[in-house]
Amino acid sequence: MTFLRVIGFSLALLCFYAIFAHTLPQVEPDLSEPIEVSTDGLDMAGMISLGEDLFSGKGTCTLCHNGMGRAPDTLEMDLAVTFADRLEAVGGEGPAAVEDYIRISMLEPSAYVVAGFGKKGTNDTVSPMPVVDAAPIELNTVEMNAVIAFLQDRAGMEPTVPLPTAEDTPVDEAPVGGEGMVEAPETDIIAALDKFSCSACHDLNGSGADLGPPLGGISARMDRTALMGAILDPNSQIAEGYDEGLMPDTLGEDMHASELLLIIDHLLNLPEPVLSEEPEDDGPITDAAGVIDEYGCAGCHDLEGSEADLGPKLNGISARMDREALKASIIDPNAEITEGYEADMMPDYFGDDMSEGEMTLLLDYLMKLPE
Ligand code: HEC
Ligand code: HEC
Ligand code: HEC
Repeated sequence: MTFLRVIGFSLALLCFYAIFAHTLPQVEPDLSEPIEVSTDGLDMAGMISLGEDLFSGKGTCTLCHNGMGRAPDTLEMDLAVTFADRLEAVGGEGPAAVEDYIRISMLEPSAYVVAGFGKKGTNDTVSPMPVVDAAPIELNTVEMNAVIAFLQDRAGMEPTVPLPTAEDTPVDEAPVGGEGMVEAPETDIIAALDKFSCSACHDLNGSGADLGPPLGGISARMDRTALMGAILDPNSQIAEGYDEGLMPDTLGEDMHASELLLIIDHLLNLPEPVLSEEPEDDGPITDAAGVIDEYGCAGCHDLEGSEADLGPKLNGISARMDREALKASIIDPNAEITEGYEADMMPDYFGDDMSEGEMTLLLDYLMKLPE
């Protein structure tokens, strides 16, 4: 019976995704469109404008170089002053030196690391910035020159980079990509939300997940910039009543810029949820499916087919741990982190929130869960 309820729950979840997929407006992302620019006969004004497109598009520079504090806010700062300061520190002057400085910043980010922005624990000797001429960003020489021309122009300098010639590789049409990303970006909002498991934790008008705040009507609370901050740097401000450290803080690294924009556009248009007329069922939970439902385990773990993969599969768990160890990993999930998964991801309050009876139901069920 319990088994059937759980299957039912998983099926309901799958149906929800299927129905959800049909009720959404199709949002067209503009950044995932290939950048089609012929470099043949491009003049400096064209190079500057290409560089600007690359900076927020294929180069994914704005994924980090924005106002969120992950990297210097290049587009907002006075670049003339910044470059003068940087050149003094590295011993050089003039626009040609600026060209070299920017090129080296892109090709060997760790050569000069801006103070305070190095990788944690490296004392500013290692830059978190990806090399831009390697996969997956792969800017070619003309594209790098275009970005340099754009930044020099912003600093009020005459760009010093050469114009492209017929021998240069044409600007390719590769999709937008960021650090460590090899696969193409999702262009479908459902696939994008699914890829980053937003609905496992947030109610986006239907999933009922409540590990994070419901996002329906979020545009009344947050504008575009605040949303971007909440997604890229979730721990900078914690929504009241929710746990710090639960929302993944790696989304900025894992997302394509176009996916981020797609998700933000979708959230800004998500209406205030319609409150359901159904009375809440507040009776005591009497079976394992109810416990799993109440505490959202299937949002992160694959339990007989939910396909969630934020946490390890729990099928056949009794072959890996005994009842005591199982209980311990539910009550104190960070005491031991399952290999290949992240710490601080699984909520650590189940021990406090669950009654004895609920814990017993859950353990009985999990210990019998077949492989
Ligand atoms: C994953 C995040 C990330 C991405 C993507 C990224 N950068 Fe950076 N970048 C950084 C960080 C962090 C620093 C500061 C540390 C350092 O000096 O390397 C930096 C430094 C720089 C600097 C030196 C800035 C200064 O104030 O002296 C330049 C120039 C630069 N980046 C250009 C770019 C360009 C152009 C792109 C896109 C083609 C890009 N970056 C993409 C993170 C990133
Ligand atoms: C593992 C659970 C989890 C996942 C996955 C997750 N979030 Fe969150 N999110 C949270 C929690 C918990 C909070 C509240 C704490 C905080 O502010 O960091 C939160 C906060 C937020 C907020 C701020 C809401 C407010 O009212 O302040 C936004 C916006 C948001 N998340 C969007 C997203 C999006 C978009 C995704 C998918 C790309 C996502 N989250 C994925 C758990 C998650
Ligand atoms: C927000 C996502 C999330 C939720 C909700 C969640 N877990 Fe987890 N769980 C994880 C992650 C991630 C790990 C692996 C990291 C670790 O060991 O803490 C994990 C680990 C476990 C483990 C250890 C598995 C092993 O193979 O070592 C068990 C058992 C477990 N969870 C059970 C549960 C149960 C039961 C629930 C519901 C009461 C639950 N989890 C809810 C994310 C979650």
